[in-house]
Amino acid sequence: MWNRLFKRAPREVMDLPEFQELDRSRLPVHTAIIMDGNGRWAKGRELLRTAGHAAGADTVKKILKAAIALELPVLTIYMFSTENWKRPPAEVDFIMRLLFDRLMQEIDEMDEDNVKIRFLGRLDELFPALRELTQKAEDRMKGNTGVQFNVAVNYGGQDEILHAAKSIARRVQQGELSTEDIDGKIFDASLYTEGLPPVDLLIRTGGDMRVSNFLLWQSAYAELWFTDTTWPDFTPLLFVEALKDFGKRNRRFGGLDNK
Ligand code: IPE
Ligand code: IPE
Ligand code: MG
Repeated sequence: MWNRLFKRAPREVMDLPEFQELDRSRLPVHTAIIMDGNGRWAKGRELLRTAGHAAGADTVKKILKAAIALELPVLTIYMFSTENWKRPPAEVDFIMRLLFDRLMQEIDEMDEDNVKIRFLGRLDELFPALRELTQKAEDRMKGNTGVQFNVAVNYGGQDEILHAAKSIARRVQQGELSTEDIDGKIFDASLYTEGLPPVDLLIRTGGDMRVSNFLLWQSAYAELWFTDTTWPDFTPLLFVEALKDFGKRNRRFGGLDNK
């Protein structure tokens, strides 16, 4: 199994001394990434913003391959936010089509790589063929046991919390649940991320230091890692650097050091 995954990982990652040296016992369970800076990457090269998104899709593949090689349990990427609809329709269309095309292209290889894909967000608002493809991809990989790969599309943290609150309120109204029973566990189970562990490491590329409505509930105690590098220029080497840095963090969760 290890060999099978390893064989398919990019040499770029496997050959890194940093990769060999990484303390595997201190890797995050759940890594989440705000993939930002596609537009600025393109602008810097006098290209259209859409070229930045296309280049960014190549980075997604590289980072997923690195996650496979490292046997990271959970990787979540922020692909399109509920606020990104404010962009010009041509850009929105391009991103949605890009997701459709790359998914079609990569579905077999992801399945062979034992990846388990899941989509988070308001999927009913995607164009019908994309909606169907996300369902097909999830169904196809549901028995896989490798990297749990979550793609947040038409996702907003506030939208997710509202959605959870409404579904819990409905259950109370129907007498299924009493108000007193509402706890963190029930709330967790009402989110799009039901069944997923909380975020341990949150990475943002592109230089801005904000969370932009990503995984608000789930990142309560996430370690944050920022880089000025734009998403299309992000590399497995930088990814390994973030993971290494995470291994050095002292996480207290509100308690005291147990040193
Ligand atoms: C991230 O890159 C991709 C999406 C938000 C869809 P941007 O498109 O936000 O790139 P910048 O931040 O404008 O450079
Ligand atoms: C966050 O990036 C959303 C995604 C990466 C999908 P944005 O570019 O939309 O965030 P802001 O506008 O800089 O906060
Ligand atoms: Mg941006």
